[in-house]
Amino acid sequence: MRKLRLGVMISGSGTNLQALIDACASEHYPATIEVVISNRPEAKGLDRAREAGIKAVCIDHKSYEDRPTFEDAIHECLSDHKVQLVCLAGFMRLLGADFVGRWKDRMINIHPSLLPSYKGLHTHARALEDGVKFAGCTVHYVRPEMDNGPIIMQAAIPIAPDETEESLIMKTLKYEHRMYPAAVKLIAEGKVRVSGNKVAVKEDVELPEVGLISPVP
Ligand code: GAR
Repeated sequence: MRKLRLGVMISGSGTNLQALIDACASEHYPATIEVVISNRPEAKGLDRAREAGIKAVCIDHKSYEDRPTFEDAIHECLSDHKVQLVCLAGFMRLLGADFVGRWKDRMINIHPSLLPSYKGLHTHARALEDGVKFAGCTVHYVRPEMDNGPIIMQAAIPIAPDETEESLIMKTLKYEHRMYPAAVKLIAEGKVRVSGNKVAVKEDVELPEVGLISPVP
């Protein structure tokens, strides 16, 4: 099987990276992680990658004089590894329009909210503060505006009456860990098409059982 070559970009713990590593460990999974890039040297995800025998590179934004040179270094690393799809997995630095343009429709992100609600940081706390009844998570193609772009997959997560920020973070991550590998699989199988600001998914798609998850075939 010809596998889609992934580059995963992280800044921290890397539990979503771990979910992708675990998925890619199956010989039937249609993607493979070629390189993991962190902008933070202390990111635990770098160890996760190395433990799995995956090339792990730190490209520390603090070592570059400006954003374009930092992003050029990332671009070169991804290109050197012949990456076909970039997966942002808790990569917490804004990317410039030039970089995003170079990877247009070849770069996806996972975000812990039902976009377009709650872009940015502290999504869970803000949702609880607003008293919404459903939280969620979203996988989307990346566009220059933060946490914006054609939505590939979403899960809606009921908020319990006694929910805390910590419990909601943990609950959401469980959904994320199932959804991100599922979304990457759909793309690798050629079942995802971007049209304008929308994504169409082929109709014969089998979705993972994660509850209220969309797209619904
Ligand atoms: C995840 O919840 C991810 O959705 C979020 O950061 C966390 C990273 O956790 N990403 C964003 O907020 C992007 N705007 P992880 O390092 O354990 O995968």
